[in-house]
Amino acid sequence: MTQYNIALIGFGGVNRALAELIAGSNDRWNAELGFRLNIVAVTDLHLGSVISPNGIDARMLVETRFARGGFAQLSGGSAEADNEKVIKQAPADIVAEATFTNPVDGEPAVSHCRWALESGKHVVTTNKGPVALAAAELKALGARHGVMFEHEGAVMSGTPVIRMAQRTLAGAGLHGFEGILNGTSNFVLGRMEGGLSFAEAVKEAKGLGYAEADPTADVEGHDVRLKVVILANELLGGKLTPQDVDCKGISGLTVADIDAATREGYRWKLIGSASVRQDGGIAARVGPQRLALDHALAAVGGAINAISLKTDLLGAVTVTGPGAGRVETAYALLSDIITIHQCRPSADKKEAA
Ligand SMILES: NC(=O)c1ccc[n+]([C@@H]2O[C@H](COP(=O)([O-])OP(=O)(O)OC[C@H]3O[C@@H](n4cnc5c(N)ncnc54)[C@H](OP(=O)(O)O)[C@@H]3O)[C@@H](O)[C@H]2O)c1
Repeated sequence: MTQYNIALIGFGGVNRALAELIAGSNDRWNAELGFRLNIVAVTDLHLGSVISPNGIDARMLVETRFARGGFAQLSGGSAEADNEKVIKQAPADIVAEATFTNPVDGEPAVSHCRWALESGKHVVTTNKGPVALAAAELKALGARHGVMFEHEGAVMSGTPVIRMAQRTLAGAGLHGFEGILNGTSNFVLGRMEGGLSFAEAVKEAKGLGYAEADPTADVEGHDVRLKVVILANELLGGKLTPQDVDCKGISGLTVADIDAATREGYRWKLIGSASVRQDGGIAARVGPQRLALDHALAAVGGAINAISLKTDLLGAVTVTGPGAGRVETAYALLSDIITIHQCRPSADKKEAA
């Protein structure tokens, strides 16, 4: 039986959902995928940290209502989140980084990834910060240490985009993409079509849990800009930073704009796009666009995401699916782990006793 020891960095929605999956699915994964996951460490700003070389009961972890610093009550636990110690010292094969996204410099997640890779541990992450701002460095660091940096969930959560484009569409001549990459702004635009003002639609999105208390990153396009950087660099060979991407959000759209588009057979969508220019450079932007109703992205409603990948041999290939959600995003981490398992069939597996 193959078993991977895993350390969870951040124990919020995504990593908690991964722990739930581990608690319920290990036997099935063992039968279907050929491995089990064993949580050997967890660290969280609020709860503290714990290292347990023999493994932590995943069900206990998700069912216990820990208070602030509550990991101190566990064997090998502490009330402090000593991330560096946990990442470097825990006997983990894989580190799952799911702390908050810092769009400015990616920290502290970039450091978390560096410590893991330098210690010879694979990294799987859903955190856009390190992927948008340091992916090339982190991949090179991993390669030097014989481990992988995987990050499918940074764009469109568990809906396959990055690996699908790189693997399944290999050879198809991918030269650009356009996508609805932020569910909150798409939901808001849909509700504005239904007659709400921008402010009313944002309020409703907050009430339904689609929007953060501060929705700026979603409605001003900053979240989409990070995703465009990630996709342009991963799929089109770019070296973009967020500053290279023109960015405009949807807060300037009025109900009159929405109504005019509807009357004329169009629909506003917040589109993130990039394409390879004739000179080999990459043009990338984020902004509201009026799409004809027969456009592949026009019918994508609610908080759903979608991307049209533009290829030479197939034309546009469009993928639609959830772009957020704790279980959906935890699935992205699982898909990263499956890739690690498939790519490194012998070196990093531990045979459980
Ligand atoms: N949820 C989704 O649908 C989704 C989809 C795609 C990508 N992502 C990305 O995935 C990551 C995790 O998302 P999430 O929904 O799980 O977020 P979350 O619920 O806010 O969880 C993040 C957890 O990390 C902890 N944390 C923050 N800074 C830390 C640090 N320096 N050291 C240790 N722990 C730290 C937080 O503790 P405190 O609460 O005490 O701050 C929180 O428990 C984010 O980067 C997010 O952008 C999420």
